[in-house]
Amino acid sequence: CGIVAITGPNEAVPFLLEGLRRLEYRGYDSAGVATLVDGGIDRRRAAGRIDNLAEVLRTAPLAGTTGIGHTRWATHGRPSEGNAHPHATDRVALVHNGIIENYRSLRQEVVDRGLQPESETDSEVAALLLTALLREGATPEEAVPAMLARLEGAFSLAMIFAGHDGLVIGARRGSPLAIGWGRDEMFLGSDALALAPVTQRISYLEDGDWVALRADGARVHDAAGREVERPFTQSAYSGALVGKGNHAHFMHKEIHEQPTVIGYTLHRMIDAAAGRVALSDLNVDLSAIRRVQLSACGTAALAALTARHWIEGLAGIPTSWDVASELRYRAVPMSGTELGVFVSQSGETADTLGAMAQAQSAGAHTLAITNVAESSMAREADDVLLTMAGPEIGVAATKTFTCQLVALACLAMAIGRARGVLGEARESAFVQALSEVPSRINDILGREQQLVTLAETIAPARNVLYIGRGMSHPLAMEGALKLKEISYIHAEGYAAGELKHGPIALIDGSMPVIVVAPRDALFPKTLSNMEEVLARGARVLLFTDAEGAEEADRPGVESFVMPAIDPLAAPLLYAVPIQLIAYHVALQKGTDVDQPRNLAKSVTVE
Ligand code: G6P
Repeated sequence: CGIVAITGPNEAVPFLLEGLRRLEYRGYDSAGVATLVDGGIDRRRAAGRIDNLAEVLRTAPLAGTTGIGHTRWATHGRPSEGNAHPHATDRVALVHNGIIENYRSLRQEVVDRGLQPESETDSEVAALLLTALLREGATPEEAVPAMLARLEGAFSLAMIFAGHDGLVIGARRGSPLAIGWGRDEMFLGSDALALAPVTQRISYLEDGDWVALRADGARVHDAAGREVERPFTQSAYSGALVGKGNHAHFMHKEIHEQPTVIGYTLHRMIDAAAGRVALSDLNVDLSAIRRVQLSACGTAALAALTARHWIEGLAGIPTSWDVASELRYRAVPMSGTELGVFVSQSGETADTLGAMAQAQSAGAHTLAITNVAESSMAREADDVLLTMAGPEIGVAATKTFTCQLVALACLAMAIGRARGVLGEARESAFVQALSEVPSRINDILGREQQLVTLAETIAPARNVLYIGRGMSHPLAMEGALKLKEISYIHAEGYAAGELKHGPIALIDGSMPVIVVAPRDALFPKTLSNMEEVLARGARVLLFTDAEGAEEADRPGVESFVMPAIDPLAAPLLYAVPIQLIAYHVALQKGTDVDQPRNLAKSVTVE
């Protein structure tokens, strides 16, 4: 979910709407705004996209110069107007991002105090609890800390109060919240991007802080109730919104940007002339690292899983991997010789932040690989490698995945070199292969029409299986994830060798099997697994290079011929046709490619 708030001399709604559009990547189930009009609370809400809310506001405008807004990714309670934020009583309106874990007991308590919840959300209890305190005579600045003391969970909040025009209160526990400093005008936003059209002067609340905003400034209190100051930072975001250019979807544009942004990311991480990796941004002594723990969510987790092969293979160091939502609650022994690598496009994913905090408190050295320099993860990690993918708007990650692969490959080489196990020749060969990736991707993009035709054979399927071995296994999983996310076709990515231990039972003539098989050492084995599915009537779509396609040429197999590349760099190339297949299948099915149902680009709750 995303939060914005404003107080000052100007109309609130134009800023709130623009800020919400910039936060739509955090959810688009429903949206709402509330302002103070003649001292009383008024609000507008709508199910669905921000556009729906804008339409409501066109027919029923909302005045006021103090206001809050919210775009929702539903956790408790289905996405409907009634469950949309702000939640309001006659005393207070509140927007909430996160989860209030003890809301059931608090709900009972507010009912006992004579207040009736109207929604199914956990958030509303915070508004009702505040209302009870305000009715008992507390001022907003007394009621808020008293209410916060009762909440369990991770959240950020923004509130306005009837009879207190010119006052916004915000609070942060776990979920980030930024204060924007304008001229005689103050703002809150879930991130600096939301505030970019109005100010670049930002300070971030720390965990446990709450802040009272008035037009002339902000008073921040920490969890212990002490008044504190939080440092200013200058946001790098500009007010301009990113456009689609001449592409039909952001996802398509972002797929096509890959040669360029991979080039930018490489430029930052390799010294091409010397044929070496150059991660000058890192402080950590990589030679002291004894184990690497990789973790992330979604597509970023599959980039991390790919990297396990590089780190083990090039740096000879034990490497573990787990999705962040699991890692954060496992008792993984960690110490100062451990490097925790956390990968996240947004740098705001709650589970990844949680796993990183857990590694940090266990004493591990943490390294964030993220696309957003100002993100929570970049601010909290001991070290940061920035991917240079530029803003990614399509919900399904594409260019950030391949840029993450670049960063992870470079990290693997840097560890290998620091440990003295990676020879110069091998390093320069891999660096060379990586620098060939952009032009090879251009070659694939030039043959997109072939993938459109292949997508036509996938689109009617109800189930699709992706298989691969070694580094192509995470890629098979990524292919399946992409297809599920944007076309809603059920798909699984499986280790090709594991197929015979169960999933092969699913195979029949209606099941396309997509085989990811660059000609690496495992190619003959993957080919045998392909034979197993062909023997059971499956239709196969094979991604391999020209020689591989020749070797695999038999009835039932359609190949998309990939450019030849050093097998170590293959995942960066093979990611692209996999993305394009998902894109064109979704297009043929008519789904909403950039904003698929039920998803959010960045999930800030656990
Ligand atoms: C969400 C998105 C996924 C994304 C994941 C991790 O679930 O829908 O596409 O891979 O979050 O996001 P992050 O910003 O941490 O890379």
